[in-house]
Amino acid sequence: MKQLTKQLKQELINFDSIEERLHFLKNKYEGETAYIVTCGPSLAKHNVDELNERLKDKLVISIKQGYNVVKDVADFHLMNTYNFSPYTWKDDTIVYWSLSKSYADEQLNRIIEMSAPIDLYIPVINPPFLNATQTTQATCNWDDFYMMETHTEVKHGVGMMYELAIPLILLLGCKNVVVMGWDLGDPNGKPEDLEHSYNHNVEKITRPQEGEIAETMRSTDSLFDWLKEKNIDFKILSDESYVSSKFDRMQLSDISSEKQKEKQLLPKHPNTSKYPSRLFDSIKVGDWDDYFLKVIQNVNNVDGCFVEMGFGQGDSVSIIKNFMEDDGVDIKNRDIWVYDSFEGFPEPTKEDYSRRNVKKGERTHPESIAYNMGIPKNRVIKGWFENTLIDNIPDESIAVLHLDCDLYESYKTCLNILYDKVAKGGLIMFDEYMSNTQATNFPGAVQAIDEFFNDKNVNIQVAQFDNEKVQKFYMYKEKK
Ligand SMILES: C[S@@+](CC[C@H](N)C(=O)[O-])C[C@H]1O[C@@H](n2cnc3c(N)ncnc32)[C@H](O)[C@@H]1O
Repeated sequence: MKQLTKQLKQELINFDSIEERLHFLKNKYEGETAYIVTCGPSLAKHNVDELNERLKDKLVISIKQGYNVVKDVADFHLMNTYNFSPYTWKDDTIVYWSLSKSYADEQLNRIIEMSAPIDLYIPVINPPFLNATQTTQATCNWDDFYMMETHTEVKHGVGMMYELAIPLILLLGCKNVVVMGWDLGDPNGKPEDLEHSYNHNVEKITRPQEGEIAETMRSTDSLFDWLKEKNIDFKILSDESYVSSKFDRMQLSDISSEKQKEKQLLPKHPNTSKYPSRLFDSIKVGDWDDYFLKVIQNVNNVDGCFVEMGFGQGDSVSIIKNFMEDDGVDIKNRDIWVYDSFEGFPEPTKEDYSRRNVKKGERTHPESIAYNMGIPKNRVIKGWFENTLIDNIPDESIAVLHLDCDLYESYKTCLNILYDKVAKGGLIMFDEYMSNTQATNFPGAVQAIDEFFNDKNVNIQVAQFDNEKVQKFYMYKEKK
């Protein structure tokens, strides 16, 4: 499950109407691969632990009983009241219901009586509002998938894939999709023979009509062409699916688990690749306080102020302030300048693309946090760096520059404008650079730093925390 989903679910409840909620979700998962888990018989063939490990931290959209298999990692659960079996929903999953337009009120009441969560629901246009020749699988008018963005309705098609899952992934902005358990069933078989991944009894209120499954199967040929035209990569994870053979098939082992992905994305060590001259000296530090103390004490003799680019909620500045109060290091007499939009991140650029998926506006904190820490208002600089670094640069040199702004353009702007202001022997701290996690999540920051120092002979050092996982990078500007 994605951290983003937990956050979105909290925000979703602030909207009163379904229209607003759907609108709010638009393109929120752009760049993510959507893993749809529906409950055809092939789903039962996977090792559940392996499936969950591989789907951990991915965008997972479960359909009906598929939820029981991937409950711990499911972001969305798509539901209707037909063939219903009870679920114990997790608080974080976004539960999305489809209701037959002709019985919408009864079905809604039934969900409310069951005390089931409802984060979203949508009417499905069913008979008498349409007939058998007007369904999605009959018409193959795939643009109808976009209907819910404008009409807050969807068209009936056999199965939740056509009614909810595909329209939803389009709304969320996903261009890569993997579907498991979408087997459809033998086109010559009878609807009552249709198998599922689960074998417990569910109340069978409805089954597809004679011929509907075969019609759906045939429609997937044209669906493939449409998805291709829309540049959507759609793969089937099943070796017994009747969905068109034009779709690529894949295996569970083709989905890299987080552990494997970390390994694949290991950044190249600069010493062994593009930047041979940038040697890393390593120091050991205990914790954050120890890190700041050890690296800042070396600039005791350097004149200048402390500047932080990316104040956020002030965690790092509060450590610095403690030094000033404890007299541990001579930072006491330095002015502190902090810069932030206080409206969160700007729009990331292509260089920032990563699974961390930073979003514009994320990490919005009020500037009052800085005032409450005693930083004078004229040194709390609100706005986008590219604007504020024109007229609001400290009038003295910088002894410590703490860069904690995560994104390519932000790092570039700060380095381009402030590097010359850093005093000789001054310290530059990079909150994100070359540790595995930093490089994986913030490739734009790494690229900006590498590009900026490409033609400069600098020595970037690493502080290795006692807790082996954390590494922080910093450098001292050469005394000339
Ligand atoms: C990771 S947070 C900083 C965390 C902070 N140092 C702390 O310890 O709490 C990154 C901050 O950088 C700010 N930021 C990033 N790029 C920016 C830009 N171009 N202009 C203004 N603020 C920016 C964001 O608003 C966000 O608050």
